[in-house]
Amino acid sequence: MGKCPECGAWDALEQFSHEGTEAEPGWAAGADGDSSPREVARPLVEIEASAVDRLPTGLSELDRCLGGGMVAGSATLVGGDPGIGKSTLLLQAMARLAQSGTRVLYATSEESAQQVRMRAERVLPEHGAGRENLFLLAESSLARILEQARKVKPAAMVIDSIQMVWRHDLDSAPGSVAQLRRCALELVQLAKSSGCAVTIIGHVTKEGDLAGPKLLEHMVDVVLNFEGDRHHAHRIVRAVKNRFGSTHEIGLFEMTGAGLAEVDEGAFVAPGSQGRPGLVVFPTLAGSRCILAEVQALTATGFLGSAKRRSSGIDSARLTMLVAVLEKHAGLRLADQDVYAAVAGGLRIIEPAADLAVCVAVAGSMLGRSLAPGVALVGEVGLAGEIRAVPALPQRVAEALRRGCNSVVIPATQASAVKDRASCTIGVANLDAAIALLG
Ligand code: TYD
Ligand code: MG
Repeated sequence: MGKCPECGAWDALEQFSHEGTEAEPGWAAGADGDSSPREVARPLVEIEASAVDRLPTGLSELDRCLGGGMVAGSATLVGGDPGIGKSTLLLQAMARLAQSGTRVLYATSEESAQQVRMRAERVLPEHGAGRENLFLLAESSLARILEQARKVKPAAMVIDSIQMVWRHDLDSAPGSVAQLRRCALELVQLAKSSGCAVTIIGHVTKEGDLAGPKLLEHMVDVVLNFEGDRHHAHRIVRAVKNRFGSTHEIGLFEMTGAGLAEVDEGAFVAPGSQGRPGLVVFPTLAGSRCILAEVQALTATGFLGSAKRRSSGIDSARLTMLVAVLEKHAGLRLADQDVYAAVAGGLRIIEPAADLAVCVAVAGSMLGRSLAPGVALVGEVGLAGEIRAVPALPQRVAEALRRGCNSVVIPATQASAVKDRASCTIGVANLDAAIALLG
């Protein structure tokens, strides 16, 4: 290069070779060179299974999704809609790490250092403790971010966000596919060579994911999705991919005036909402735990032939199918009724075990009748109107009873699985039997 891309001076560049002697080996520049020790193929039994080195963030809901904490030398991608709270979550996690004496770097390419500082004042009430371990860098040039990382040598670092980070030597604009790929690859290599836990934040767009983090998912070790309705306080962190743990766990947060707060699982059922037509309680499985969800349905007069079926938090194709089953096997005339179904609190339910709850909520709204307060429902509904078995029934029943329900409607075929709680369960074999419970 004859001209310096930084200052514009001509012939100002000097060649030098990096020996990497004074720097720690892992942090040496030029990760794209082949500096790693040569590996040889070995039999599986000869390879020691070392435990992964984890950095628990202290935000237990986040650690749960990560499988116990960030892993040293790993790359994590956090995706989510703009404004959902990604920056807040990672800033809080980094501050917690700093508090426990870990050196961390938060590189922001979207905001100024002052903006981040202002947010930090809001979300980190405790002053003093560990602040000297939290390094902040407002920079969008990848080369300079890497240079600072090599200087600071953090145990964990965050890039917020990858869409705005760029390499000067690539022709394309920040956020383009070429930039995203190269920058992410370099950050992943830095994580691997230095043992730093690197977290990359990315936006997802509603329409496509061409320039979104989908492109990067195969490069990183862990992919977390930050979901939730921006107009709802509840936020859910879901692990989509995890090379160091299970992908079944979810973390529950609530956006408050002072940042994200961890949520108690009981928060998704409004007290006093039970016993109304169209509202039912369903114990849903989320990883290793069970959350009580409130399923709501409403039927309203529509037009025959163009009646609407709308859902939020429930698969709409599944709702349409369940409405058809109700028509055919429960004798409800829904062809000229608009049917709406939703899950309260911004939760999303994908398991078929919610079918019975949806059906009874729709039937309840249609008939103007409700279940007795304190009754939860669980069961899959088949196309013949039969109630089918669900996974983890004993756990669901136990959780519903623990959280204040007094009886649970279950598939009749599974009654033997919860024999010890026979007095609190009601087995139903088909939809008619379940709808007959509406008082
Ligand atoms: P932010 O973390 O900036 O979202 P992202 O990085 O995903 O784009 O925060 C998103 C919203 O959260 C912001 O619009 C305001 C709100 N918020 C609060 O309600 N309370 C708070 O303490 C903070 C920091 C943000
Ligand atoms: Mg942000």
